[in-house]
This record gives sequence, C-alpha cells and structure tokens, in this order.
Amino acid sequence: MNSATQDEVAAIVVAAGSGVRLGRELPKAAIEIAGVPMVTRAVQAMFAGGVDRVIVVAPEAWIEQFAAFFADYHERVTVIPGGLLRQDSVRLGLAHIQDANIVLVHDAARPLVPPFIVDRVIEAVRDGAPAVIPVVAQVDSLRRIRRNWTVAVDRSTFLRVQTPQGFEADGLRQAHSHVGDKEFTDDATMCEAIDIPVITVPGDSLAFKITEPMDLVLAEVIARGES
Ligand code: CTP
Ligand code: MG
Repeated sequence: MNSATQDEVAAIVVAAGSGVRLGRELPKAAIEIAGVPMVTRAVQAMFAGGVDRVIVVAPEAWIEQFAAFFADYHERVTVIPGGLLRQDSVRLGLAHIQDANIVLVHDAARPLVPPFIVDRVIEAVRDGAPAVIPVVAQVDSLRRIRRNWTVAVDRSTFLRVQTPQGFEADGLRQAHSHVGDKEFTDDATMCEAIDIPVITVPGDSLAFKITEPMDLVLAEVIARGES
C-alpha cells in the first residue's frame, strides 16, 4: 500500500430519499436552497472539507437530472441509483469505491454542514479512529414513554448524531456485509453491531437535517445570509 492511495478520501452522499415529510413534488435533495440544490451544496461541502471523490446516490428516476448538477465535476463525482432504505443506498455507493481507505457517509439532507466538520471527521479517522460521528448536545428536556405515562430522563446522557460520519473503508464494508435484514438508522450503529468502536467529535448546529417544511425555511434564511 503506498501513501498516495492510503490518504484518498471518498464520500458517499446519500440523496435517494423522496422526502415524504417535506411533502414536495421534487425529491428532497433536488430542492434548491437559495438557488442551489441541496445535493449540490452537500457535495461542495465535502470537497471544501478535503474529500477527493464523491459518489452521489440519487433516486432511480432522477439519475440524469442529478448527473446534470455535477456535469462540471467530471470523474470527481459519480451519480448512481439508490435503494429502498438509506442503508441500501449506502451499500450501493460503497460498491463504487475502490482506492479510498477513508470513506465518509453524508446525508444530502444536511446541505449546510460546515467544511471544518468534514475536515474534523477525516482527521479523526486519519488519527486512527475506525468510526467517527459528529455529535451535538440535546437542547430540549427529554422524557421516556412508559405505557400511559412519561418519566423525565437526564438529557445530558444523550447526544444528537449528525453526518458526515467517517470510517476506515474496510470496517464499513464489513459492517454492511453483516447487516442481513436488520434496519439501521446510520452507519456508525451498523459498525457498533460488529464491535467496531465509535468515536465522537463535536458537530455543529449548521449540520442540521432538513426534514420538515420549517427546516427548509431556516436553511433558506441561513444560506441567503451567507451569500
Ligand atoms: N436516503 C437515501 N436512500 C433512501 C432513503 C434515504 O439515500 N432509500 C437519504 C436521503 O436522501 C437523505 C438521507 O438519506 O439525504 C437521510 O434521510 P431522510 O432525512 O429520512 O430523507 P428522506 O428519506 O428523503 O425523507 P423522508 O424520510 O421524509 O421521506
Ligand atoms: Mg427517510
């Protein structure tokens, strides 16, 4: 293994969801924020943060439209069709990664992630962490649901998990080959299931996920303020 290939960083930007909770005609990742599609912003953040190559996993019926977003990137961006679940889309993306030893997995639905977070995740993997997640504190009080009542829990014992998550490529491949029928919300959880330790780094509120209509309003205001 030479040092050039050792250092290569690839990112899988998962963008194949339909965005049911947003309730628009367009797939969520194609929706523009201050004139720039969410998926384009997400990919730009990856490159700005030190990623070498990006695999964009897009909705099957929208491959050509998504490819057109990245016409200027040539071989640095590959657009492929996704699967039914998020984890299927990641697995399909992984199949297109050859040389990279470090793989990031990022939600296109987090288009405003600051590049320094991307860099922070890459550096933590370079420093030897096999799986890295950016996290932020829980701001609301939390309660646990018990049958027909609720009980307060200590919110300081909970963290909110963001993306990009970073991995040693082989570990992530192993985790994905062990999933079977089980559904996972993210890739770090999948790694943990095969005893790969998951390390946390500080995330950032700008890496929030656009899920509901109000999130889109917030993203638009932030992006306009920055341009
Ligand atoms: N995703 C994907 N393939 C799927 C499902 C989700 O690539 N089969 C991606 C989404 O495009 C998104 C990220 O995973 O960037 C996080 O998912 P989520 O926020 O749930 O997006 P959607 O699934 O599109 O939204 P919803 O659940 O409201 O339909
Ligand atoms: Mg979803």
